[in-house]
Amino acid sequence: MKISALTGALKGRTDAIAVCLFEDELKSPKLSGLDRRTVSAFQKLIAASRFSGKHSETTVHFSDGAQAPVLVLQGLGSRRDFTWHRLRQSAGAVIRAAKSNEVGTLSIFSSEQFASDLSAENTARALTDAVVLGHWGFEHYKSKKKGHAVSQVSLYFGTSARQKAATAVIPQAQILAEAHNLAREYGTHPANVVTTDYLKAEAKKLARFGIKVTVLERAQLEKLGMNLILAVGQASVMPPRVIIMDYAPRAAKKTVAFVGKGLVFDNGGLNIKVAKMEEMKSDMCGAAAVLGAMHAVANLKPKQRVLGVIGACENAIGGNAFRPSDVYTAYNGKTVEIGNTDAEGRLVLADTMAYVVDKYKPNLMVDIATLTGAAKIALGNHADAVFSNSEHVSKQILDSAERAFERMWPMPLYEEYGDEMKSTTAMLNNAGKDRWGGACRAAAFLKEFVGTTPWAHIDIAPTSFPAVTNSLNPPRTANGSATKTLIELAMGA
Ligand code: BES
Ligand code: MN
Ligand code: ZN
Repeated sequence: MKISALTGALKGRTDAIAVCLFEDELKSPKLSGLDRRTVSAFQKLIAASRFSGKHSETTVHFSDGAQAPVLVLQGLGSRRDFTWHRLRQSAGAVIRAAKSNEVGTLSIFSSEQFASDLSAENTARALTDAVVLGHWGFEHYKSKKKGHAVSQVSLYFGTSARQKAATAVIPQAQILAEAHNLAREYGTHPANVVTTDYLKAEAKKLARFGIKVTVLERAQLEKLGMNLILAVGQASVMPPRVIIMDYAPRAAKKTVAFVGKGLVFDNGGLNIKVAKMEEMKSDMCGAAAVLGAMHAVANLKPKQRVLGVIGACENAIGGNAFRPSDVYTAYNGKTVEIGNTDAEGRLVLADTMAYVVDKYKPNLMVDIATLTGAAKIALGNHADAVFSNSEHVSKQILDSAERAFERMWPMPLYEEYGDEMKSTTAMLNNAGKDRWGGACRAAAFLKEFVGTTPWAHIDIAPTSFPAVTNSLNPPRTANGSATKTLIELAMGA
Protein backbone atom coordinates (compact mmCIF):
# COMPACT_ATOMS: atom_id res chain seq x y z
CA MET A 1 0.00 0.00 0.00
CA LYS A 2 1.31 3.40 -0.97
CA ILE A 3 0.50 6.15 1.52
CA SER A 4 1.23 9.78 0.76
CA ALA A 5 0.50 13.22 2.15
CA LEU A 6 -0.92 15.81 -0.25
CA THR A 7 -2.11 19.37 0.03
CA GLY A 8 -4.55 21.69 -1.74
CA ALA A 9 -7.19 20.45 -4.17
CA LEU A 10 -7.88 16.77 -4.92
CA LYS A 11 -5.28 15.52 -7.38
CA GLY A 12 -5.80 12.90 -10.07
CA ARG A 13 -8.62 10.42 -10.13
CA THR A 14 -9.60 8.47 -7.06
CA ASP A 15 -12.09 5.66 -6.47
CA ALA A 16 -13.23 7.03 -3.15
CA ILE A 17 -13.20 10.21 -1.12
CA ALA A 18 -13.55 9.96 2.63
CA VAL A 19 -14.31 12.96 4.80
CA CYS A 20 -13.75 12.86 8.58
CA LEU A 21 -15.79 15.31 10.63
CA PHE A 22 -16.32 16.18 14.28
CA GLU A 23 -19.98 16.05 15.23
CA ASP A 24 -20.22 19.82 15.81
CA GLU A 25 -19.21 20.71 12.27
CA LEU A 26 -21.90 18.84 10.36
CA LYS A 27 -23.99 21.96 9.65
CA SER A 28 -21.38 23.73 7.55
CA PRO A 29 -18.32 21.57 7.09
CA LYS A 30 -15.37 23.51 5.69
CA LEU A 31 -14.01 21.17 3.05
CA SER A 32 -11.38 22.97 1.06
CA GLY A 33 -9.81 20.81 -1.63
CA LEU A 34 -13.08 19.37 -2.95
CA ASP A 35 -15.17 20.93 -5.72
CA ARG A 36 -18.63 22.43 -5.22
CA ARG A 37 -20.54 19.41 -6.47
CA THR A 38 -18.62 17.05 -4.21
CA VAL A 39 -19.10 19.24 -1.13
CA SER A 40 -22.79 19.48 -1.91
CA ALA A 41 -23.00 15.68 -2.37
CA PHE A 42 -21.50 15.28 1.09
CA GLN A 43 -23.91 17.83 2.55
CA LYS A 44 -26.86 16.01 1.02
CA LEU A 45 -25.53 12.76 2.35
CA ILE A 46 -25.28 14.21 5.86
CA ALA A 47 -28.89 15.38 5.68
CA ALA A 48 -30.35 12.29 4.02
CA SER A 49 -28.58 9.68 6.15
CA ARG A 50 -29.26 11.43 9.46
CA PHE A 51 -25.55 11.16 10.07
CA SER A 52 -24.78 12.24 13.62
CA GLY A 53 -20.97 12.27 13.48
CA LYS A 54 -20.35 9.78 16.29
CA HIS A 55 -16.81 8.47 16.26
CA SER A 56 -17.97 4.99 15.36
CA GLU A 57 -20.29 6.12 12.57
CA THR A 58 -19.42 5.38 8.93
CA THR A 59 -21.71 6.05 5.96
CA VAL A 60 -20.96 5.01 2.38
CA HIS A 61 -22.67 6.60 -0.60
CA PHE A 62 -22.39 6.01 -4.35
CA SER A 63 -22.61 9.16 -6.45
CA ASP A 64 -22.22 10.12 -10.07
CA GLY A 65 -21.89 13.90 -9.87
CA ALA A 66 -18.99 14.05 -7.41
CA GLN A 67 -15.25 13.72 -7.93
CA ALA A 68 -15.26 10.04 -7.01
CA PRO A 69 -17.84 7.26 -7.40
CA VAL A 70 -17.66 6.29 -3.71
CA LEU A 71 -18.09 8.83 -0.90
CA VAL A 72 -17.38 7.88 2.70
CA LEU A 73 -18.52 10.01 5.58
CA GLN A 74 -16.75 9.29 8.84
CA GLY A 75 -17.64 10.71 12.24
CA LEU A 76 -14.95 11.67 14.74
CA GLY A 77 -17.31 12.23 17.66
CA SER A 78 -17.18 15.27 19.89
CA ARG A 79 -14.08 17.39 19.85
CA ARG A 80 -13.96 17.47 23.64
CA ASP A 81 -13.67 13.69 23.88
CA PHE A 82 -11.11 13.35 21.11
CA THR A 83 -8.34 10.78 21.58
CA TRP A 84 -5.76 9.42 19.16
CA HIS A 85 -7.34 6.07 19.84
CA ARG A 86 -10.69 7.32 18.52
CA LEU A 87 -9.06 8.82 15.46
CA ARG A 88 -7.38 5.51 14.69
CA GLN A 89 -10.64 3.59 15.18
CA SER A 90 -12.35 6.02 12.79
CA ALA A 91 -9.60 5.74 10.17
CA GLY A 92 -9.78 1.95 10.53
CA ALA A 93 -13.51 2.13 9.74
CA VAL A 94 -12.78 4.20 6.62
CA ILE A 95 -10.23 1.76 5.24
CA ARG A 96 -12.55 -1.18 5.98
CA ALA A 97 -15.39 0.54 4.13
CA ALA A 98 -13.06 1.19 1.19
CA LYS A 99 -11.86 -2.40 1.12
CA SER A 100 -15.32 -3.92 1.21
CA ASN A 101 -16.50 -1.60 -1.58
CA GLU A 102 -13.64 -2.67 -3.87
CA VAL A 103 -11.92 0.70 -3.76
CA GLY A 104 -8.38 0.71 -5.19
CA THR A 105 -7.44 4.32 -4.49
CA LEU A 106 -8.69 6.29 -1.53
CA SER A 107 -8.35 10.00 -0.66
CA ILE A 108 -8.95 11.05 2.93
CA PHE A 109 -9.92 14.62 3.83
CA SER A 110 -10.55 16.16 7.18
CA SER A 111 -12.05 19.53 7.91
CA GLU A 112 -10.04 22.69 8.50
CA GLN A 113 -11.21 22.58 12.07
CA PHE A 114 -9.47 19.28 12.53
CA ALA A 115 -6.24 20.72 11.17
CA SER A 116 -6.23 23.65 13.54
CA ASP A 117 -6.61 21.37 16.57
CA LEU A 118 -4.07 18.60 15.93
CA SER A 119 -0.40 18.34 15.03
CA ALA A 120 0.20 17.17 11.46
CA GLU A 121 2.99 14.83 12.61
CA ASN A 122 0.85 12.88 15.06
CA THR A 123 -2.16 12.95 12.75
CA ALA A 124 -0.09 11.44 9.94
CA ARG A 125 1.40 8.79 12.25
CA ALA A 126 -2.00 7.87 13.64
CA LEU A 127 -3.69 7.72 10.23
CA THR A 128 -0.87 5.72 8.66
CA ASP A 129 -0.95 3.25 11.53
CA ALA A 130 -4.73 2.87 11.42
CA VAL A 131 -4.93 2.53 7.66
CA VAL A 132 -2.31 -0.26 7.60
CA LEU A 133 -3.81 -2.07 10.62
CA GLY A 134 -7.42 -1.60 9.51
CA HIS A 135 -6.63 -3.00 6.09
CA TRP A 136 -5.22 -6.20 7.53
CA GLY A 137 -7.22 -9.42 7.49
CA PHE A 138 -6.28 -13.06 7.85
CA GLU A 139 -7.31 -15.07 4.79
CA HIS A 140 -4.43 -17.49 4.25
CA TYR A 141 -6.64 -20.54 4.41
CA LYS A 142 -9.57 -19.15 2.38
CA SER A 143 -9.91 -19.65 -1.35
CA LYS A 144 -12.30 -16.69 -1.74
CA LYS A 145 -10.86 -13.41 -0.48
CA LYS A 146 -13.15 -10.80 1.00
CA GLY A 147 -13.10 -7.28 -0.44
CA HIS A 148 -10.29 -5.85 -2.49
CA ALA A 149 -6.87 -4.50 -1.58
CA VAL A 150 -6.64 -0.72 -1.37
CA SER A 151 -3.37 0.03 -3.15
CA GLN A 152 -3.09 3.77 -2.65
CA VAL A 153 -4.12 6.08 0.17
CA SER A 154 -3.73 9.87 -0.12
CA LEU A 155 -3.98 11.87 3.08
CA TYR A 156 -4.89 15.50 2.45
CA PHE A 157 -3.44 18.15 4.73
CA GLY A 158 -4.65 21.75 4.58
CA THR A 159 -1.35 23.60 4.29
CA SER A 160 1.94 22.73 2.66
CA ALA A 161 3.71 23.07 6.02
CA ARG A 162 1.41 20.37 7.41
CA GLN A 163 1.90 18.25 4.32
CA LYS A 164 5.66 18.50 4.74
CA ALA A 165 5.54 17.51 8.40
CA ALA A 166 3.32 14.56 7.51
CA THR A 167 5.50 13.41 4.61
CA ALA A 168 8.49 13.24 6.95
CA VAL A 169 6.87 10.74 9.31
CA ILE A 170 4.74 8.50 7.08
CA PRO A 171 7.45 6.05 5.88
CA GLN A 172 8.57 5.16 9.41
CA ALA A 173 5.00 4.94 10.69
CA GLN A 174 4.26 2.52 7.87
CA ILE A 175 7.25 0.33 8.73
CA LEU A 176 6.04 0.14 12.34
CA ALA A 177 2.49 -0.73 11.32
CA GLU A 178 3.66 -3.40 8.88
CA ALA A 179 5.82 -4.97 11.60
CA HIS A 180 2.70 -4.96 13.79
CA ASN A 181 0.76 -6.80 11.06
CA LEU A 182 3.57 -9.33 10.68
CA ALA A 183 3.28 -10.14 14.40
CA ARG A 184 -0.47 -10.61 13.90
CA GLU A 185 0.21 -13.12 11.14
CA TYR A 186 2.53 -15.16 13.36
CA GLY A 187 0.03 -15.13 16.22
CA THR A 188 -2.96 -16.08 14.08
CA HIS A 189 -1.48 -19.02 12.16
CA PRO A 190 -2.19 -22.26 14.01
CA ALA A 191 0.44 -24.23 15.91
CA ASN A 192 0.74 -26.92 13.25
CA VAL A 193 2.15 -24.17 11.02
CA VAL A 194 3.93 -21.90 13.51
CA THR A 195 6.11 -24.60 15.07
CA THR A 196 9.45 -24.08 16.81
CA ASP A 197 11.04 -24.91 13.42
CA TYR A 198 8.99 -22.16 11.83
CA LEU A 199 10.05 -19.57 14.41
CA LYS A 200 13.66 -20.52 13.84
CA ALA A 201 13.28 -20.25 10.06
CA GLU A 202 11.60 -16.81 10.37
CA ALA A 203 14.43 -15.57 12.58
CA LYS A 204 17.03 -16.89 10.11
CA LYS A 205 15.44 -14.76 7.38
CA LEU A 206 16.85 -11.73 9.20
CA ALA A 207 20.42 -12.88 8.57
CA ARG A 208 20.42 -11.30 5.13
CA PHE A 209 19.93 -7.88 6.74
CA GLY A 210 23.12 -8.31 8.76
CA ILE A 211 21.42 -9.60 11.90
CA LYS A 212 23.31 -12.48 13.43
CA VAL A 213 21.05 -15.39 14.30
CA THR A 214 22.14 -18.04 16.83
CA VAL A 215 19.97 -20.93 17.96
CA LEU A 216 20.51 -22.91 21.15
CA GLU A 217 19.26 -26.41 20.38
CA ARG A 218 18.29 -29.04 22.93
CA ALA A 219 21.85 -30.36 23.36
CA GLN A 220 23.18 -26.87 24.10
CA LEU A 221 20.31 -26.11 26.45
CA GLU A 222 21.22 -29.29 28.33
CA LYS A 223 24.88 -28.35 28.46
CA LEU A 224 24.06 -24.85 29.69
CA GLY A 225 21.74 -26.18 32.40
CA MET A 226 18.62 -24.46 31.08
CA ASN A 227 16.46 -27.10 32.74
CA LEU A 228 13.29 -25.04 33.06
CA ILE A 229 12.70 -24.55 29.34
CA LEU A 230 13.75 -28.16 28.80
CA ALA A 231 11.17 -29.33 31.35
CA VAL A 232 8.35 -27.38 29.71
CA GLY A 233 9.26 -28.68 26.26
CA GLN A 234 10.02 -32.29 27.14
CA ALA A 235 6.68 -33.90 26.23
CA SER A 236 6.44 -32.22 22.84
CA VAL A 237 7.59 -33.66 19.52
CA MET A 238 8.81 -30.15 18.70
CA PRO A 239 12.32 -29.38 19.95
CA PRO A 240 12.56 -26.51 22.46
CA ARG A 241 14.93 -23.75 21.39
CA VAL A 242 16.32 -20.38 22.37
CA ILE A 243 16.56 -18.21 19.26
CA ILE A 244 18.83 -15.16 19.41
CA MET A 245 18.75 -12.36 16.84
CA ASP A 246 21.61 -9.94 17.32
CA TYR A 247 21.61 -6.55 15.61
CA ALA A 248 24.97 -5.07 16.57
CA PRO A 249 26.01 -1.85 14.80
CA ARG A 250 29.73 -1.20 15.23
CA ALA A 251 29.43 2.14 17.03
CA ALA A 252 26.75 0.96 19.46
CA LYS A 253 27.21 2.15 23.04
CA LYS A 254 24.18 0.49 24.61
CA THR A 255 22.37 -2.83 24.34
CA VAL A 256 18.66 -3.37 24.68
CA ALA A 257 17.40 -6.97 24.86
CA PHE A 258 13.86 -8.08 24.05
CA VAL A 259 12.85 -11.51 25.30
CA GLY A 260 9.63 -13.02 23.96
CA LYS A 261 7.60 -15.94 25.29
CA GLY A 262 7.31 -18.32 22.34
CA LEU A 263 4.91 -21.05 23.46
CA VAL A 264 3.77 -22.24 20.05
CA PHE A 265 0.95 -24.02 21.86
CA ASP A 266 0.05 -24.22 25.54
CA ASN A 267 -2.39 -26.99 26.40
CA GLY A 268 -1.49 -26.53 30.07
CA GLY A 269 0.54 -29.72 30.40
CA LEU A 270 -0.67 -32.25 33.00
CA ASN A 271 -2.61 -29.38 34.62
CA ILE A 272 -4.52 -29.42 31.36
CA LYS A 273 -6.54 -26.40 30.32
CA VAL A 274 -10.31 -26.68 30.60
CA ALA A 275 -11.31 -23.52 28.71
CA LYS A 276 -10.34 -21.76 25.48
CA MET A 277 -7.45 -24.09 24.77
CA GLU A 278 -7.70 -23.24 21.06
CA GLU A 279 -6.69 -19.63 21.75
CA MET A 280 -3.34 -20.89 23.00
CA LYS A 281 -2.04 -20.98 19.43
CA SER A 282 -1.40 -17.32 20.22
CA ASP A 283 0.76 -18.08 23.27
CA MET A 284 3.78 -17.10 21.18
CA CYS A 285 2.59 -13.51 20.74
CA GLY A 286 5.54 -12.23 22.79
CA ALA A 287 7.87 -13.97 20.33
CA ALA A 288 5.78 -12.59 17.46
CA ALA A 289 6.27 -9.04 18.77
CA VAL A 290 10.03 -9.62 19.00
CA LEU A 291 10.20 -11.00 15.45
CA GLY A 292 8.08 -8.15 14.11
CA ALA A 293 10.21 -5.59 15.94
CA MET A 294 13.46 -7.12 14.64
CA HIS A 295 12.15 -6.80 11.07
CA ALA A 296 11.63 -3.09 11.66
CA VAL A 297 15.04 -2.81 13.34
CA ALA A 298 16.66 -4.35 10.24
CA ASN A 299 14.92 -1.65 8.22
CA LEU A 300 15.33 1.39 10.46
CA LYS A 301 18.86 0.66 11.71
CA PRO A 302 18.90 2.22 15.19
CA LYS A 303 22.19 3.26 16.79
CA GLN A 304 22.10 0.87 19.75
CA ARG A 305 22.61 -2.87 19.79
CA VAL A 306 19.28 -4.70 19.80
CA LEU A 307 18.95 -8.33 20.83
CA GLY A 308 15.75 -10.15 19.99
CA VAL A 309 15.51 -13.40 21.92
CA ILE A 310 12.80 -16.04 21.82
CA GLY A 311 12.22 -18.91 24.21
CA ALA A 312 10.40 -21.31 21.87
CA CYS A 313 8.72 -24.55 22.88
CA GLU A 314 5.41 -26.34 23.24
CA ASN A 315 3.70 -27.17 26.52
CA ALA A 316 2.38 -30.64 25.69
CA ILE A 317 1.26 -33.79 27.43
CA GLY A 318 2.53 -37.39 27.48
CA GLY A 319 4.36 -39.98 29.51
CA ASN A 320 7.43 -37.79 29.36
CA ALA A 321 5.71 -34.63 30.59
CA PHE A 322 7.01 -32.64 33.55
CA ARG A 323 4.76 -32.96 36.60
CA PRO A 324 3.37 -30.84 39.39
CA SER A 325 5.81 -31.37 42.35
CA ASP A 326 8.88 -31.93 40.11
CA VAL A 327 11.92 -29.81 41.03
CA TYR A 328 14.31 -28.38 38.42
CA THR A 329 17.41 -26.21 38.65
CA ALA A 330 17.38 -23.08 36.49
CA TYR A 331 20.27 -21.64 34.46
CA ASN A 332 21.07 -19.24 37.32
CA GLY A 333 21.18 -22.08 39.87
CA LYS A 334 17.85 -21.38 41.58
CA THR A 335 15.74 -24.47 42.26
CA VAL A 336 12.10 -24.36 41.21
CA GLU A 337 9.29 -26.61 42.36
CA ILE A 338 6.52 -27.04 39.81
CA GLY A 339 3.25 -26.04 41.47
CA ASN A 340 1.35 -25.98 38.21
CA THR A 341 2.48 -27.09 34.75
CA ASP A 342 0.23 -24.43 33.20
CA ALA A 343 2.45 -21.71 34.68
CA GLU A 344 5.01 -22.59 32.00
CA GLY A 345 5.70 -19.20 30.41
CA ARG A 346 7.57 -17.91 33.46
CA LEU A 347 9.78 -21.03 33.43
CA VAL A 348 10.76 -20.49 29.81
CA LEU A 349 11.40 -16.78 30.38
CA ALA A 350 13.33 -17.40 33.61
CA ASP A 351 16.00 -19.51 31.92
CA THR A 352 16.09 -17.36 28.79
CA MET A 353 16.44 -14.08 30.68
CA ALA A 354 19.04 -15.43 33.09
CA TYR A 355 21.06 -16.55 30.07
CA VAL A 356 20.71 -13.18 28.30
CA VAL A 357 21.80 -11.30 31.44
CA ASP A 358 24.80 -13.58 31.93
CA LYS A 359 25.95 -13.66 28.33
CA TYR A 360 25.13 -10.16 27.00
CA LYS A 361 24.78 -7.88 30.07
CA PRO A 362 22.19 -5.62 28.41
CA ASN A 363 21.61 -2.06 29.66
CA LEU A 364 17.91 -2.71 29.44
CA MET A 365 15.94 -5.94 29.15
CA VAL A 366 12.25 -6.15 28.31
CA ASP A 367 10.30 -9.37 28.26
CA ILE A 368 7.00 -9.65 26.44
CA ALA A 369 4.68 -12.51 27.25
CA THR A 370 1.11 -13.78 27.16
CA LEU A 371 1.81 -14.68 30.75
CA THR A 372 -1.34 -14.68 32.89
CA GLY A 373 -5.09 -14.84 32.67
CA ALA A 374 -4.98 -12.69 35.79
CA ALA A 375 -3.61 -9.71 33.79
CA LYS A 376 -6.56 -10.07 31.44
CA ILE A 377 -8.98 -10.21 34.35
CA ALA A 378 -7.41 -7.02 35.74
CA LEU A 379 -7.35 -4.95 32.55
CA GLY A 380 -9.85 -6.59 30.21
CA ASN A 381 -9.16 -6.47 26.48
CA HIS A 382 -7.92 -2.91 26.42
CA ALA A 383 -4.49 -2.47 28.00
CA ASP A 384 -1.40 -4.54 28.74
CA ALA A 385 0.31 -4.73 32.13
CA VAL A 386 3.78 -3.29 32.76
CA PHE A 387 6.01 -4.34 35.68
CA SER A 388 9.52 -3.11 36.32
CA ASN A 389 12.34 -3.08 38.86
CA SER A 390 13.00 0.59 38.00
CA GLU A 391 10.69 3.62 37.99
CA HIS A 392 12.75 5.11 35.21
CA VAL A 393 12.41 2.03 33.00
CA SER A 394 8.70 1.80 33.71
CA LYS A 395 8.25 5.38 32.52
CA GLN A 396 10.37 4.69 29.45
CA ILE A 397 8.09 1.78 28.51
CA LEU A 398 4.89 3.74 29.12
CA ASP A 399 6.18 6.70 27.06
CA SER A 400 7.19 4.42 24.18
CA ALA A 401 3.80 2.73 24.31
CA GLU A 402 2.03 6.06 24.12
CA ARG A 403 4.03 7.10 21.10
CA ALA A 404 3.27 3.72 19.54
CA PHE A 405 -0.49 4.14 20.12
CA GLU A 406 -0.49 1.10 22.39
CA ARG A 407 -2.20 1.06 25.77
CA MET A 408 -0.10 -0.08 28.70
CA TRP A 409 -0.70 0.30 32.41
CA PRO A 410 1.76 0.21 35.34
CA MET A 411 1.40 -2.55 37.93
CA PRO A 412 3.10 -3.07 41.32
CA LEU A 413 5.95 -5.42 42.23
CA TYR A 414 5.79 -5.36 46.05
CA GLU A 415 8.11 -7.79 47.78
CA GLU A 416 5.14 -9.67 49.26
CA TYR A 417 4.33 -10.99 45.79
CA GLY A 418 7.81 -12.50 45.78
CA ASP A 419 7.26 -14.04 49.23
CA GLU A 420 4.18 -15.75 47.82
CA MET A 421 6.31 -17.53 45.20
CA LYS A 422 8.53 -19.32 47.73
CA SER A 423 8.40 -23.09 47.91
CA THR A 424 8.54 -25.32 50.98
CA THR A 425 10.63 -27.86 49.04
CA ALA A 426 12.76 -25.75 46.67
CA MET A 427 13.82 -22.09 46.51
CA LEU A 428 10.87 -21.04 44.38
CA ASN A 429 7.48 -22.37 43.33
CA ASN A 430 6.22 -21.46 39.86
CA ALA A 431 2.64 -21.00 41.11
CA GLY A 432 1.13 -19.25 44.11
CA LYS A 433 -1.07 -21.22 46.51
CA ASP A 434 -4.23 -19.38 45.38
CA ARG A 435 -5.37 -17.05 42.56
CA TRP A 436 -4.88 -13.64 44.09
CA GLY A 437 -2.60 -11.21 42.31
CA GLY A 438 -1.63 -13.82 39.72
CA ALA A 439 -0.13 -11.31 37.27
CA CYS A 440 1.93 -9.61 40.01
CA ARG A 441 3.14 -12.92 41.41
CA ALA A 442 4.23 -14.07 37.96
CA ALA A 443 6.20 -10.83 37.54
CA ALA A 444 7.77 -11.32 40.99
CA PHE A 445 8.85 -14.83 39.93
CA LEU A 446 10.54 -13.42 36.79
CA LYS A 447 12.34 -10.81 38.90
CA GLU A 448 14.32 -13.65 40.51
CA PHE A 449 16.06 -14.24 37.16
CA VAL A 450 17.15 -10.76 36.03
CA GLY A 451 19.66 -9.90 38.75
CA THR A 452 20.33 -6.14 38.84
CA THR A 453 19.62 -5.59 35.13
CA PRO A 454 17.19 -2.70 34.51
CA TRP A 455 14.19 -4.69 33.37
CA ALA A 456 10.52 -4.49 32.47
CA HIS A 457 7.99 -7.23 31.96
CA ILE A 458 5.02 -6.61 29.68
CA ASP A 459 2.17 -9.07 30.19
CA ILE A 460 0.30 -8.93 26.88
CA ALA A 461 -2.28 -11.59 27.77
CA PRO A 462 -4.98 -8.86 27.94
CA THR A 463 -4.77 -7.66 24.32
CA SER A 464 -2.88 -10.31 22.35
CA PHE A 465 -5.93 -12.34 21.34
CA PRO A 466 -8.72 -9.95 22.23
CA ALA A 467 -12.26 -11.06 22.86
CA VAL A 468 -13.49 -7.87 21.18
CA THR A 469 -13.76 -6.91 17.53
CA ASN A 470 -13.47 -3.39 16.18
CA SER A 471 -12.34 -1.59 13.05
CA LEU A 472 -8.69 -2.30 13.85
CA ASN A 473 -9.15 -5.87 15.16
CA PRO A 474 -10.80 -8.51 13.01
CA PRO A 475 -12.55 -11.28 14.96
CA ARG A 476 -10.54 -14.24 16.28
CA THR A 477 -7.13 -12.96 15.26
CA ALA A 478 -3.98 -12.14 17.18
CA ASN A 479 -3.28 -8.49 17.77
CA GLY A 480 0.47 -8.00 17.41
CA SER A 481 0.50 -6.32 20.83
CA ALA A 482 3.64 -4.46 21.94
CA THR A 483 5.45 -4.76 18.59
CA LYS A 484 5.51 -1.01 17.99
CA THR A 485 6.39 -0.22 21.60
CA LEU A 486 9.49 -2.41 21.21
CA ILE A 487 10.44 -0.64 18.00
CA GLU A 488 10.08 2.76 19.68
CA LEU A 489 12.34 1.50 22.48
CA ALA A 490 14.87 0.18 19.98
CA MET A 491 14.90 3.55 18.22
CA GLY A 492 15.79 5.10 21.54
CA ALA A 493 12.47 6.69 22.48
N1 BES B 1 -0.66 -18.65 28.42
C1 BES B 1 -1.32 -18.65 29.68
C2 BES B 1 -1.89 -17.29 30.05
C3 BES B 1 -3.00 -16.75 29.20
C4 BES B 1 -4.32 -16.97 29.57
C5 BES B 1 -2.75 -15.96 28.11
C6 BES B 1 -5.35 -16.44 28.81
C7 BES B 1 -3.77 -15.43 27.34
C8 BES B 1 -5.07 -15.67 27.71
C9 BES B 1 -0.34 -19.06 30.78
O1 BES B 1 0.63 -19.99 30.41
C10 BES B 1 -1.14 -19.68 31.87
O2 BES B 1 -1.73 -20.70 31.63
N2 BES B 1 -1.15 -19.05 33.05
C11 BES B 1 -1.88 -19.55 34.16
C12 BES B 1 -1.01 -19.44 35.39
C13 BES B 1 -1.56 -20.16 36.61
C14 BES B 1 -1.59 -21.65 36.39
C15 BES B 1 -0.69 -19.81 37.81
C16 BES B 1 -3.14 -18.69 34.30
O3 BES B 1 -3.08 -17.49 34.04
O4 BES B 1 -4.18 -19.26 34.61
MN1 MN C 1 -0.03 -21.97 30.61
ZN1 ZN D 1 1.16 -20.01 28.39
